[in-house]
Amino acid sequence: MIKVKRIRHVTFVTPDIDRQIDYYQTVVGLGVVTRDASRASLATDSDELAVVLQRGDQAACRRLTFEVAPDLDFADLVATLSRAGIAAEIQSDPLPGVSRSVLFRDFEEMEIELLAGPTFAVAEQPVGGIAADRLGHIALYTQDPLKASKFYGDVLNFRVSDWIEDAFVFMRCGFDHHSVNFARGPGRRLHHAAFELRDASHMHRACDLLGRKKMQILWGPVRHGPGHNVAIYHRDPDGHLIELFFDLDQMIDEELGYFEPRPWHRDRPQRPKVWVGLPRDIWGPVPSAELAEFKRKAT
Ligand SMILES: [Fe+2]
Repeated sequence: MIKVKRIRHVTFVTPDIDRQIDYYQTVVGLGVVTRDASRASLATDSDELAVVLQRGDQAACRRLTFEVAPDLDFADLVATLSRAGIAAEIQSDPLPGVSRSVLFRDFEEMEIELLAGPTFAVAEQPVGGIAADRLGHIALYTQDPLKASKFYGDVLNFRVSDWIEDAFVFMRCGFDHHSVNFARGPGRRLHHAAFELRDASHMHRACDLLGRKKMQILWGPVRHGPGHNVAIYHRDPDGHLIELFFDLDQMIDEELGYFEPRPWHRDRPQRPKVWVGLPRDIWGPVPSAELAEFKRKAT
């Protein structure tokens, strides 16, 4: 088993790379590190790559990149994956600041990339927009959430943090409640991408910026049940659902087996569980009619 430590960045295919670069610069608040006719990479104010954009025919989530321990040998990673029946390859100079990575695919052809240790990539200009702290999590549709939970658990050491009935699973690789989620749907594609903010003040500024840019908040602010993060949702120019959040649950000690106690938890202690029925959220509005329709069509 490979122990994934952190989610690092996500790669999107886009039919309009200039429009997406503008969105990530002026709304999410990332800085351009590299840019050519077919690809751009963008980093946070902490100089971590967060988003890679590739020109293509159809908007899609192409690749998730995770970090493993800095002392892991790439040949060993490939051998470990091979023993699990997964074909992997070592890439040289795949990204700015990254000399090598390992690339393979999950059981629904999502590309998974592993980097060893920290890397930093400095943007050409100071960031603007919301200046989100980092990529927080990626939620994907899958035909089989249980199979996805087993694959990411068995191969990459993700742990189940919560289920919503048998349709949506939240998985952690570090102490954050979730870095990947899987929702039952017709096939593998993006459910939403989430960027972390610092606090309520940062969220307030994000709402004001979305308002000034006339980008509709489709849901929230809401404090969720699973993960207990405070979240808002809007859509990027390619139609992807984007979440901005803060205050996500953390499991500091795996052996204790519960999330750090918070005043808004219903369960004391709050352990991983299956959430059944509504209402699930602690407070906040229900999703807008537009978002509810979007979800209905997706499933
Ligand atoms: Fe989320």
